[in-house]
Amino acid sequence: MKILHASAEYFPYIKMGGLADMLASLTKEQAQSEEVYVALPYIGGLGKEPLWTGKDYPALLPKDAKTDSLVVSVLRDSRFLEAEESGVKLYFFQSDLFQTLDSIYGHAEEHFRFAMFSYACYALSQILKVDVFHAHDWHTAISLALQKDSPFPIPSVFTIHNLAYQGDHPFWMTGFLKEEPFRLVTSPFDHNGKCNYMKAGILSANQITTVSPGYREETLREPNGFGLSDCLNLRARDYSGILNGIDTEEWNPKKDKRIYNTFQDSNWKVGKLKNKEELFKEIGRPFLPLDAPLVGLIGRLTYQKGFPTFLKAFLDRRHLPHRYVVLGSGDPETENSFFQLSESLPDIFYFYKGYNESLAHKIEAASDFFLMPSLFEPCGLNQMYSHVYGTIPIVSRVGGLRDTVEESSLIQFKTGIVFEPNDTGSLGYALERARDLFFSPERDIVVKNIMKLDWSWKKRKAEYQSVYFRAIDLQI
Ligand code: ADP
Ligand code: GLC
Repeated sequence: MKILHASAEYFPYIKMGGLADMLASLTKEQAQSEEVYVALPYIGGLGKEPLWTGKDYPALLPKDAKTDSLVVSVLRDSRFLEAEESGVKLYFFQSDLFQTLDSIYGHAEEHFRFAMFSYACYALSQILKVDVFHAHDWHTAISLALQKDSPFPIPSVFTIHNLAYQGDHPFWMTGFLKEEPFRLVTSPFDHNGKCNYMKAGILSANQITTVSPGYREETLREPNGFGLSDCLNLRARDYSGILNGIDTEEWNPKKDKRIYNTFQDSNWKVGKLKNKEELFKEIGRPFLPLDAPLVGLIGRLTYQKGFPTFLKAFLDRRHLPHRYVVLGSGDPETENSFFQLSESLPDIFYFYKGYNESLAHKIEAASDFFLMPSLFEPCGLNQMYSHVYGTIPIVSRVGGLRDTVEESSLIQFKTGIVFEPNDTGSLGYALERARDLFFSPERDIVVKNIMKLDWSWKKRKAEYQSVYFRAIDLQI
């Protein structure tokens, strides 16, 4: 089967969050048995330099190249450059629209830029004559509407990684969607009078998926449907929740080159201790105690991640022996609070502002616990990375977190500590249970068990395969 994925992110070329990791690991696994292609934007100097094959492909279909418009001329000047990575063919969209950006999101004209990219992905799917076209999130959703209206539609799948971002804009900004080469009927885009790319993707794809069964359920009602729960209920029969897998080569404490000391379940205690010691030296806090629970937190500092709940719980439970290492950037108010704590309580709290892939691995390896206080979480990857590194996750009971972490009273089934989202008291109590577990002999059993959990794609890639077959059946 020939599969083309269309995405704004792909590790290690463009990464802002879990979408990049999820897609890189899924496609690596799919490439074991299928022909897998990925279309993604090219931004020079942002991530790893691709291994070019020297081949390139147009971003415009010949029939559309005949007319003239601003959009057509932009696409005529753009190309897909082919590269290869782990058996996957990558098609980098090389265009003035993306090339010189300093990051993939957060620029004006995003609605235009991603619409152009989406058309180009649609064109590429037609040129490569793939069997399945698989688009991810709102950035590529327009390609599904194009596919649906095409005289030669390709069976399509749309994966929602995060319903909070929908690519909605005033209609007056998106007039180009009615013109060449789009020629789209824009009624499926209409959501409360705005042009909503995500909604059009949901209504156009043959099959829809999201990244955990728990999140699927939450999106079918408000508030977590972010206004689109009715639309998703309309498509409920074609909507599945498939839990993400992880890259067990990239995230593997036995061979991780980014951490100070590799380790496995038989020597986790010594391994973690060495990583902790070295991490404290690197961050300039060598005086921190090695025998106190270290809690790691990594993530985009956005509303979704619930860091203010953590801040309140932290202040309430200052008597606990925990130390905290936080890595992230985003909301300036949260950044400021973390900076202040880092300065005023250097023997308890450390904050690194920014994005740092190596430090993320080091924190996973050194921490005893990993805290995810999300208000909603489509899947979340760090709780699974934590398991593999013997780092006990403390998570809120939402989305993919509740599908992957269980605080069972039976020690052999306990895979973490779970609390209620947006609830300072519940989080505070979870931190107390973490202290008890840290000093209890049961910790060894929990750590050894979570290190054995299999979160690889091996079992789960078959679920995408079934969705592809359903999409093909619907298209015939
Ligand atoms: P989301 O996609 O919502 O951000 P996920 O848990 O799915 O959440 O994935 C986040 C990914 O991004 C993880 O691999 C995490 O380690 C990484 N990450 C997030 N923030 C940072 C950061 N500041 N530095 C390094 N890695 C980060
Ligand atoms: C999104 C979600 C996150 C998920 C990731 C990969 O960014 O916020 O929960 O793990 O996509 O699917």
